Amino acid sequence: MRVICVAGARPNFMKVKPVMDALAARGARVVFVHTGQHYDQAMSEVFLADLGLRPPDHHLGAGSGSHAEQVARVMLAFEPLVERLRPDAVVVVGDVNSTLACALVTAKSAARLAHVEAGLRSGDRSMPEEVNRVITDRVSDLLFAPSPDAAGNLRAEGCPPERIRLVGNVMVDTLLANLGRARRRGTLAGLGLTPGGYGLVTLHRSANVDDPGVLARLIAGLGRVGRLCPLVLPAHPRLTARLAGLGAAAPGRRLPVGALRVIPPAGYLDFVALEASARLVLTDSGGVQEETTVLGVPCLTLRESTERPVTITEGTNRLVGTDPDVIAEAARMVLADPPAPRRPALWDGRAAERIAAGLIP
Ligand code: UD1
Ligand code: UDP
Repeated sequence: MRVICVAGARPNFMKVKPVMDALAARGARVVFVHTGQHYDQAMSEVFLADLGLRPPDHHLGAGSGSHAEQVARVMLAFEPLVERLRPDAVVVVGDVNSTLACALVTAKSAARLAHVEAGLRSGDRSMPEEVNRVITDRVSDLLFAPSPDAAGNLRAEGCPPERIRLVGNVMVDTLLANLGRARRRGTLAGLGLTPGGYGLVTLHRSANVDDPGVLARLIAGLGRVGRLCPLVLPAHPRLTARLAGLGAAAPGRRLPVGALRVIPPAGYLDFVALEASARLVLTDSGGVQEETTVLGVPCLTLRESTERPVTITEGTNRLVGTDPDVIAEAARMVLADPPAPRRPALWDGRAAERIAAGLIP
């Protein structure tokens, strides 16, 4: 059985690695395709090295662009590859533009389409990722859901039950497989940090960073949290560009970024080391909400909605939005009284095995 596994953007590498290994262990011929949506060393190659992923068999070189440009470029490059390789199945992960593009191509080919992380819904159609999730699930043959809420969303949308498999969370497979190595790396010492002595921040959602007003409010809120607990922020390139723009757009206005230490995007092992020893995490990332739940680290999500409600009902996550007063008060409360760690069912490090068994019975 020949299976194409697609990755394109940072979080895809963590999701695809355990699935590729589990499929190979069941005898599949796995073809690894990198769409090139992310291409900086710190957004792409570092993850291959950290995770022990082999170099891609095919690189589509899609790069950056508008949504339409990016999706179209991936589709134009992926379609002839699928025609040439004639895979039995294609596995797409997550909710990025590469996921949608490869799903659309596969749905019109003879190959079966499997979506890993199916059924997540924020209910907010203004998020490009929500559009990607809904359409990808709609055209998939096999829907691998990470949590019961996700499986329930699929059923509620009328997906045939035999297509839906509740398998757990592949992000957690990768986290548990690499946590020991990450902790032994000396990442904290290299940054002059001590365990439990800092908060970790990530920020990259378009709704949060592309509007200068929203970004300025978030930075103000983080500045106030920084007075309670020093903060370190490995900055996604989208944020780095916007932070520079914000300074330029507001001459003479001092941004409280001094309370925040902005560093380049971290590799996976360094990031996990920072996450595991943080006193709290503030983020708008999907994957980071899940990882903090498993690590038992308090997480404040800088959004109004989440497609991962299980991290709130069964984890350490709390939605705090973008209001500086709410963010500062939530941080004060969580620092004083951290939530008890819990872990959702099937987030046990074996999701990829269940996915491989679903694809190759
Ligand atoms: C994408 C995903 C988002 C995911 C995130 C993970 C979509 C719609 N969005 O957002 O769901 O959470 O990846 O990190 O697919 N850039 C670089 N170097 C790179 C990659 C990007 O400088 O290697 C810059 C470019 O200016 C680019 C911008 O970042 O225009 C945004 O990149 P893009 O892939 O379009 O979206 P992300 O914000 O990364
Ligand atoms: N991550 C990383 N370095 C960073 C920030 C995040 O390695 O500087 C990892 C993080 O541990 C998680 C994944 O990237 O595994 C989350 O990706 P991201 O936040 O970019 O995307 P999202 O999950 O929001 O789609």
